[in-house]
Amino acid sequence: MSGVLAAESEELVRIAVTVGTEAAELVRNARSHAVTQVDTKSSETDVVTAADRASEQLVRDRLAHLRPGEPVLGEEEGGTDSLDGLVWVVDPIDGTVNYLYGLPFYAVSIAAQLDGVSVAGAVVEPVSGRIWTASRGGGSFCDGRPLRAAATTRLELSLLGTGFSYDHARRLRQADAINRMLGKVRDIRRCGAASLDLCAVAAGWEDAYIEHGLHRWDWAAGGLIAEEAGAVSGSPAPTTTASARRPPSPPPPA
Ligand code: IPD
Repeated sequence: MSGVLAAESEELVRIAVTVGTEAAELVRNARSHAVTQVDTKSSETDVVTAADRASEQLVRDRLAHLRPGEPVLGEEEGGTDSLDGLVWVVDPIDGTVNYLYGLPFYAVSIAAQLDGVSVAGAVVEPVSGRIWTASRGGGSFCDGRPLRAAATTRLELSLLGTGFSYDHARRLRQADAINRMLGKVRDIRRCGAASLDLCAVAAGWEDAYIEHGLHRWDWAAGGLIAEEAGAVSGSPAPTTTASARRPPSPPPPA
């Protein structure tokens, strides 16, 4: 983590929390308009609401003010894909489909990455108000309480979270891999917001999470939160995993 002192990472966490909390409030207040202000992206099922765009704009404006000149990569507007130096990685609403339907499982995810490695992050839930945070080497927390991933070591007793791509062909391959896992684990969960699944691993609410083809903004903050809670994390893509001790061995993606 050359160049980023612990105090600096803590400051990055504070900024991620401040900005994430403001964006979460916007997202919560805009919910009643979500269904009418919706557009599609890579496929008909890959939706973006006006709130996704407004949330990302707010985050960009606030970061430009608080951290002028630092590049941002966001789900809706894109931006730098460079791994060099400090980059803010933003998912303005992770769990957009849940948001659209009113399922209260979605979050604003903001991470600071240094040379492609997450050093600070916050995942803010608009509905529950929970705030998940981590800094590299500084531990991870939910509403200020330290997190510890489960100590599960037996695959057959593991509760495994997963997610699916919006891309039809990739989704079928993911389903095939999960189908082969089903008989080997305690059970499977698909909650619809990868950042929160990774926080769930950090809290011991899930034993492991795996998804093939996850985007950088989906795992940047949650992956750090899981890691800092003691989980073994395997990212970046193509396959993102986080698990209590060591990742269960899934079949290779088809
Ligand atoms: C999606 C969610 C979902 C995961 C997908 C992501 P979005 O993010 O995190 O759980 O399975 O791969 O694309 O589109 O809601 O920001």
